[in-house]
Amino acid sequence: MLSLHKSTTPAFYLLSAPTFALDVPAINHALSNDATIKLAYLASPGNPTGSLLSKVDVEQILAHPTWNGVVVLDEAYIDFAHDNASLAELVTEYPNLVVMHTLSKGFGMAGIRLGAAFTSPPIARLLNSLKAPWNIPSPSSALGSYAVSEEGLSIMRQNRAKIKAQRDRLLEELPNISGVGRVRSGTDSNFLLFEMLNPQGQPDNAVAAAVYDKVAKTKGVVVRFRGKETGCFGCLRVTMGTKNENTRSLDYLRRTLVEMRKDGRERERVETGEWIDVGARDSGVDVSYSSPSSSSIDQATEDKKDKEANGVLVY
Ligand SMILES: Cc1ncc(COP(=O)(O)O)c(C=O)c1O
Repeated sequence: MLSLHKSTTPAFYLLSAPTFALDVPAINHALSNDATIKLAYLASPGNPTGSLLSKVDVEQILAHPTWNGVVVLDEAYIDFAHDNASLAELVTEYPNLVVMHTLSKGFGMAGIRLGAAFTSPPIARLLNSLKAPWNIPSPSSALGSYAVSEEGLSIMRQNRAKIKAQRDRLLEELPNISGVGRVRSGTDSNFLLFEMLNPQGQPDNAVAAAVYDKVAKTKGVVVRFRGKETGCFGCLRVTMGTKNENTRSLDYLRRTLVEMRKDGRERERVETGEWIDVGARDSGVDVSYSSPSSSSIDQATEDKKDKEANGVLVY
């Protein structure tokens, strides 16, 4: 996303989904009129927008006629976008630009806490003089050097191709699940943002939050609830896993939505009195809404086995 570094409540400076493009006139207006703004922070692709920012838009901010603050362009997810998507080369043209990369995403090496910033010599000098001496541990340095060797890059490219193939697969399969709405993110990252629908077919934050909670607690799959972020109403963010992980996640999601709809229908029937009446009349025994049916016992056993066999998946 985007933020302008200042003390007051930030406004929203992106256009609507799925491009989440920069609202350049609004941003440049804010930069012209608020002398307290020293830094503009842009993410391309954004999180959770999953969209690349346009070069033309970023350049319009960099070329602002009066504002002379720093533009930070966070390209953490750039390896999942198309080739040559990075705007890192712009640092040779704009001395106020800092482009940040990380080995945490495309290289899958978040544990080594290593990234790089590209910028002009004056800003680089400033950053180098601020950092502590020996701030990069030797193991991180050795692993990072290997990651960007020819061999390391080739491994990263192979893994990335698999992730992109899974992204294409989820783009195709997610909309076929009943209760899943539109994909709202761009497709330039390793995650997708998609809507959860209520029985009326509308995106719904309560449904999205309930699905998040249920797949985490009963299936051990942690997605991200993003419904409270601007432009992401009713949305969950799912990060691509391996082929098998995604097969299980799609299945869990499908089953969770079915279970929730069934629960909802039963609750409705209890609330209207229909459920109790029917159960009491047919069996002559007291019926408890919370009693699990034999099929849900089977499901719970199956889910437990799945979790034991597969461990907990975190997305
Ligand atoms: C847009 C963005 N930038 C940077 C990061 C963090 O990267 P790092 O692991 O290098 O701190 C994240 C992590 O989720 C992110 O979403």
